[in-house]
Amino acid sequence: MNGPDSTILGGLGRVSLCALPTPLVEAGRLAEALGGPRIFIKRDDLTGLALGGNKARALEFVMAAAAAAACDVVIAVGPQHSNQLCCIAAAARKCGMDAVLLLLRGDNRRQGNMLLFDMLGAQVRLTDVDLSNLGEAYAQMADLAEELRSEGRKPLELKYGPLPVAGLAGYALLFQEILGQTRGLRQEGRLGSPRLHIFVGSGSGSTQAGLILGRRLMGAECDIHGVMLDPRFDQQRHEGSVLATLREAAALFQSGVEFDAADVHCIDGYDGEEATTRSKAADAAALVAHTEGILLDPVYTSRVMAATIDHIRDGRIPPEDSVVFYHSGGVPAIFSHSDSLKR
Ligand SMILES: Cc1ncc(COP(=O)(O)O)c(C=O)c1O
Repeated sequence: MNGPDSTILGGLGRVSLCALPTPLVEAGRLAEALGGPRIFIKRDDLTGLALGGNKARALEFVMAAAAAAACDVVIAVGPQHSNQLCCIAAAARKCGMDAVLLLLRGDNRRQGNMLLFDMLGAQVRLTDVDLSNLGEAYAQMADLAEELRSEGRKPLELKYGPLPVAGLAGYALLFQEILGQTRGLRQEGRLGSPRLHIFVGSGSGSTQAGLILGRRLMGAECDIHGVMLDPRFDQQRHEGSVLATLREAAALFQSGVEFDAADVHCIDGYDGEEATTRSKAADAAALVAHTEGILLDPVYTSRVMAATIDHIRDGRIPPEDSVVFYHSGGVPAIFSHSDSLKR
């Protein structure tokens, strides 16, 4: 098939961290419960690195660059609940590197990700800094990197938030994978030609930006709805930052394509901690578990599903269209955030 992997992205360095393609499964009972369009779930909770998730796709490219630069240790900053940290630790081990995690102030009991960090043999360093003072955490990371360099080590430093933009290649190829799977369904006569709507979580916005890049490189028509997941940002600012990431990636990959604001669509209103938002997310997780036997997490995917359900129920996605819900993983958080899913 022609597409990004046979053109621009095919030549990039990549290590194999994922079991691909992940399944695209039809959620027939969920669709029936909502009385709307057909719904497919892209199961990137099953990417296969540690406990799965979207970040493994980007790390295939980020870690290849680190290996090419002879890095032997990865230092990453983030909060304890960060799936990204967990995937980074697993990816580092898989690539024969050490992982040092600088954890922001939080709940440090040996459960959830803390347990996984330990099992992965990551070195955890606790900071007394919280999310509002990331600059201080990065200064600590720089000091640590210097210390490691003086011992003859070669660290890769990864900040909290977007992974290096090379990782977007993984998400452009994710788009190609989804397109291939939906085309396969069409060829088998199991899907007509509905308009496709992909619902994807947008935290740093990398996954969304990579999907948009993939859509353009593949010349495909579909709507990509990025459900905002970081309450620190408003819609305008977040859309601007997804666009900037997209442009940076397009330039890095020398794709020769240009993007403007119309390429990026984000949905706000699902990232807060208000009781109504939390209960919508908890209801969404329960509905998916009860109809499909698939688990969503409280921080990311249950909120994306809550937005998807609202769009279906109020008719913004007409019944003749089809939905692809991107399951980005994060499921281990159910064990340490069980209260968030109380209904
Ligand atoms: C499980 C999960 N889903 C979605 C996201 C958001 O992805 P992105 O940062 O690419 O927007 C994250 C980010 O940490 C995540 O861990």
